[in-house]
Amino acid sequence: MARIMGTDEQAVLTAAELLAAGKLVAIPTETVYGLAADATNGDAVAGIFEAKGRPHFNPLICHVSDTAMAERYATIDPLSRRLIAAFWPGPLTLVLPLKAGTPIHPLVAAGLETIALRMPRGIAGKIISALDRPLAAPSANTSGRISGTSAGAVNDDLGERISLILDAGPSEVGLESTIVKVEGGKVLILRPGGLAAEDIEAALGVTLGRMDQRAAIEAPGMMASHYAPAAKMRLNIHEVRAGEAVLAFGPERASGAENAVGNLNLSPSGNLREAAANLFDFMKRLDRLGSAVIAVEPIPFNGLGEAINDRLVRAAAPRASTIAELDQIK
Ligand code: TXA
Ligand code: MG
Repeated sequence: MARIMGTDEQAVLTAAELLAAGKLVAIPTETVYGLAADATNGDAVAGIFEAKGRPHFNPLICHVSDTAMAERYATIDPLSRRLIAAFWPGPLTLVLPLKAGTPIHPLVAAGLETIALRMPRGIAGKIISALDRPLAAPSANTSGRISGTSAGAVNDDLGERISLILDAGPSEVGLESTIVKVEGGKVLILRPGGLAAEDIEAALGVTLGRMDQRAAIEAPGMMASHYAPAAKMRLNIHEVRAGEAVLAFGPERASGAENAVGNLNLSPSGNLREAAANLFDFMKRLDRLGSAVIAVEPIPFNGLGEAINDRLVRAAAPRASTIAELDQIK
């Protein structure tokens, strides 16, 4: 079982130290307990997916301590700024354009060019300030189970897999944050949650639009630039062909790999967590070499391997750059 502490100064320092060392800590927020990791540490973020047993790398919410920190990572439009002024800290998450070159690990945004940010109430803010880095944190529960809203519930579910749980009593809101995105001067709700749409409408004096959450996430992925590299992907290869770049995994090489245009190994020791943390970055780096094909060595399907293979299959799928092409693929 995990160590459980309260919310005093010592707890804040201990949590910040563990997080800085790449460990997972369950922290209370006003909505639900979050399973937190340093958002700039890919290995730690991969650990979240592992601990939750999530089969897919869906994008995670990134928690900041104040607006200045949000500004380091995202571009904030005027309407989003008004929402922040009205509702932060609180149960409102904003999807914003991710600034280029930030140290947030690409696994947090699942390779998207937007990032979901929120500033939680309570002790989480103090921990983030002490760490001086944002925390990636989905709800603290095994995938498919109900979100943890007390330290005891979190301990029962995830206690074996995390270092520390901070106990601030039952969550105030008990429901995940409301997620919105400003697009074309309109505020769209992507996920209803702990802040009522009516409250947002009253604060801004506008009517909210609705957008399917899946569409918000999937749409950029279909535009050929996110999960999908410009190169074609050939999966599960045992033999590298002339002119291909290789995305390798584990200690043994496919035949012909020594002649490849480029070769990056997701994890020389065969560690799936390390591989998950390297995946998006290595795909992008190999793609920049300009070869027509990236050949990917076999990656096992156990543990995080399922999510890694899911992303690879998406990247390898036929894709379109125009609607007409898309119709042909369908
Ligand atoms: O209340 C909450 O929001 C809790 C607490 C711990 O803060 N956190 C939470 O985080 O629910 P998480 O990581 O489970 O939320 C992930 C959801 C995704 O399923 C997706 O709906 C949305 O956030 N999301 C994240 N990044 C996105 C993006 N770039 N575009 C659209 N939606 C995004
Ligand atoms: Mg959840």
